[in-house]
Amino acid sequence: SKKVERKKVLLMGKSGAGKTSMRSIIFASYVADDVYRLGMTMDIEHAHVRMLGNLVVNLWDCGGQDSFMDSYFMFQKEQIFKGCEVLIYVIDVKSERPEADLQGYRDCLAAIADYSANAKIFVLVHKMDLLLESEKNAIFEVKKKELEEIAHTNRLNVDIAKTSIWDKTLYSAWSKIVTQLIPKKEKFQTELQNLAEQSGANEVLLFEKATMLNICYIKNDANGHKTEDDEDLIAERMEGLSHYLKNFKLICWRKATNFESLEIRTSTFSAIMQIFTDYTCIMLVSFNPDIPMWNWRKAIDRIRPKF
Ligand code: GTP
Repeated sequence: SKKVERKKVLLMGKSGAGKTSMRSIIFASYVADDVYRLGMTMDIEHAHVRMLGNLVVNLWDCGGQDSFMDSYFMFQKEQIFKGCEVLIYVIDVKSERPEADLQGYRDCLAAIADYSANAKIFVLVHKMDLLLESEKNAIFEVKKKELEEIAHTNRLNVDIAKTSIWDKTLYSAWSKIVTQLIPKKEKFQTELQNLAEQSGANEVLLFEKATMLNICYIKNDANGHKTEDDEDLIAERMEGLSHYLKNFKLICWRKATNFESLEIRTSTFSAIMQIFTDYTCIMLVSFNPDIPMWNWRKAIDRIRPKF
């Protein structure tokens, strides 16, 4: 029988660009068991984390300053870039060697075009916090243009975002990345919208289990008008929730138990959080504290087989 191919997410960028910091923030519940080694080149590939059930995130350094890396790129390109679902390239916006970064980026894109032409490509212009507020946008736009031009010469499209580990931008960028990887995501959206209506919940949220990144957010608001800063507020809340959920999961894990379900009832809201599928958790929130939650459990059980 045909061997199931492991799907890859490559997290690349020059040494020092911020990949390891990102990984430890997004994948706080990083499990040592998930670490495996690929061939003899252990120094280069730092770590592997699983997400969405079958995707493995691999970290690679590529700065073009290391001759060992250069030869690695030359001789094992196929091994690195074949079967790649996503490439995330991290660029330090305050890099001391911007030319070397761009060369690394060019090399990666050329290799992706050759071996995984359909991969989705995200570029994170990182450490934005090091710039003055007043110069952020202008510098980002220049970088963005430059990065897009390089992509276009390889006939590739890239999605470019600005990030920093010091604010919610990192979380938002990664949520977007993970959301794009969900198979049949439109169907998710519709089913969860139905669930919101049937259950009377004000909010239905879906999280990727390994990262607790939010992958779907539905608001079932009776008077439903949005305010200007809605998106920012939502992103901030999702970041906070992800943080707490990850910690809770870690605590369970340390106590040698698995997180299954959590119910919270306060004087102002009710919430339920459950493992939903192999790779998702679901959360329902109501601002009516008296809403009966047994009803929610049933509603969740009813739609689970559809996913
Ligand atoms: P290697 O481990 O050498 O491959 O580098 P890396 O790409 O994994 O970078 P790493 O995560 O080790 O980060 C390098 C340095 O950048 C560390 O000192 C981090 O604290 C810092 N750093 C990472 N992200 C940010 C950010 O968003 N803002 C700022 N100011 N510093 C950051």
